[in-house]
Amino acid sequence: MTDRLILVLDEGTTSTRAMLFGADGAQHGVAQADLTQHYPRSGWVEHDAGEIWDRTLACAREMVAKAGGADRIAAIGITNQRETVVAWDRQTGEPYARAIVWQDRRTASMCEAMREAALEDAIRAQTGLLLDPYFSATKMRWLLDNEPAVAAAAQAGTLALGTVESWLTYKLTGGSKGGRHISDASNASRTLLLALDGAGFDEGLCDAFGVPRSALPDVVDNAGQLGVTAPGLLGGAIPICGMAGDQQAATIGQGCLSPGDTKATYGTGAFVLANKGRDIPQSANRLLGTVLYQIGGERHYALEGSVFVAGSLIKYLRDTLGLISSAAETEELARSVEDNGGVVVVPALSGLGAPHWLPDARATITGLSFSAGKAHIARAALEAMAHQTRDLAQAFAADGAPWSRLRVDGGMSANSWMVQDIANLLDLPVERPHLVETTALGAAMLAAVGAGIHPALDQAAAAMIGESSRFAPQMHGPDRQKRLGDWAEAIARM
Ligand code: G3P
Repeated sequence: MTDRLILVLDEGTTSTRAMLFGADGAQHGVAQADLTQHYPRSGWVEHDAGEIWDRTLACAREMVAKAGGADRIAAIGITNQRETVVAWDRQTGEPYARAIVWQDRRTASMCEAMREAALEDAIRAQTGLLLDPYFSATKMRWLLDNEPAVAAAAQAGTLALGTVESWLTYKLTGGSKGGRHISDASNASRTLLLALDGAGFDEGLCDAFGVPRSALPDVVDNAGQLGVTAPGLLGGAIPICGMAGDQQAATIGQGCLSPGDTKATYGTGAFVLANKGRDIPQSANRLLGTVLYQIGGERHYALEGSVFVAGSLIKYLRDTLGLISSAAETEELARSVEDNGGVVVVPALSGLGAPHWLPDARATITGLSFSAGKAHIARAALEAMAHQTRDLAQAFAADGAPWSRLRVDGGMSANSWMVQDIANLLDLPVERPHLVETTALGAAMLAAVGAGIHPALDQAAAAMIGESSRFAPQMHGPDRQKRLGDWAEAIARM
């Protein structure tokens, strides 16, 4: 082991952070900056890729200073919001347009047209994904069709396309002055352009979506010597040794390293991943097959259920509706009433993801009566997390991957009332690590393996993952049945 630290850059949907970890998993510091969310039209969500870079760099610099300089950092691990697409100029290193965020629904009709052309089954068999605007390929196509600068750059050969880890690595390793254009296999598997059993982006898939393969990055391992920071940026050359999409990183950070191990992360959205080992997952229940990680060219896979709205619902109740003044208040409100008073919230604010996949669905609050107050609405909002999770549990079981327990994490999992409700509705034990920063920890574990600090992920898990608390189910069968019936009715109206 080394006494040098691991710097993790955790670039999420609403904020970007830099964190320091020791080789024993202890956390030594964090810097955070919020990101501006742009909503130019209904269903559209954009980020400024320049802002993502500037704020990530500022947070990274703060942590390098805290560590005592670049030579105190053994390795960098990167983890990121997935699917979000950045288009930039290889000559200047500057973005051509705003990044299109994973939540953005603008390509729903493009997906519909491809479905009508009967392309979905073949694409799903190859990529593990469905034709939904969530994934990157149609966002890339949209930029090529609608941003003249992007189209011109594709013609001129100066266009670079990538997801967020790709953008950050390019900038960190020198940008227009020799920056590496790479994407790790976990992030690449979210684009619709990577076959689950193919080494690099697939020519046939690129043609099907009209994305020039030459504009895409090289697909690399999730751990290893992935690049070195340009010396001027962080006060020295630091190797980048780990990289993964945030949900894959959280799966690793939760120690879900054996087939069947399952985690749910409640961040902006909620994402459940079950480790499938070396088997390529094939879902018959509208779940996704995805790369969990690739090390030494060897791929491990996961079955995933992606729910688009979790913490973002609480943010909406706070910032847009003004119903609550803090996220923590929802726990107090939920505990202040005996039940939901008949109120059901279906949080389809950006359509519904797995297992329903209804991009045009919109959120509802039903069952309001004069006796329903804000506590009932807050409680129903939290209950929606357990319901969305249970819908996934049914789909996982139908796909032959039933859960025997669930490990939870993410900012929203700090809400103990919600975690207990998930255990109650699933009728399963739920475990929450004391350190809920599992996404960043997973990236630190990958970087530690990539830098040779720990020989493999199992050893990194043993050295770096801490204790958990357990929530046992406590709900009576009839109460559960009533909740499930009300939810099923509300979903049927979507
Ligand atoms: O697939 C989208 C996901 O990566 C976003 O994660 O942490 O921002 O909810 P998060």
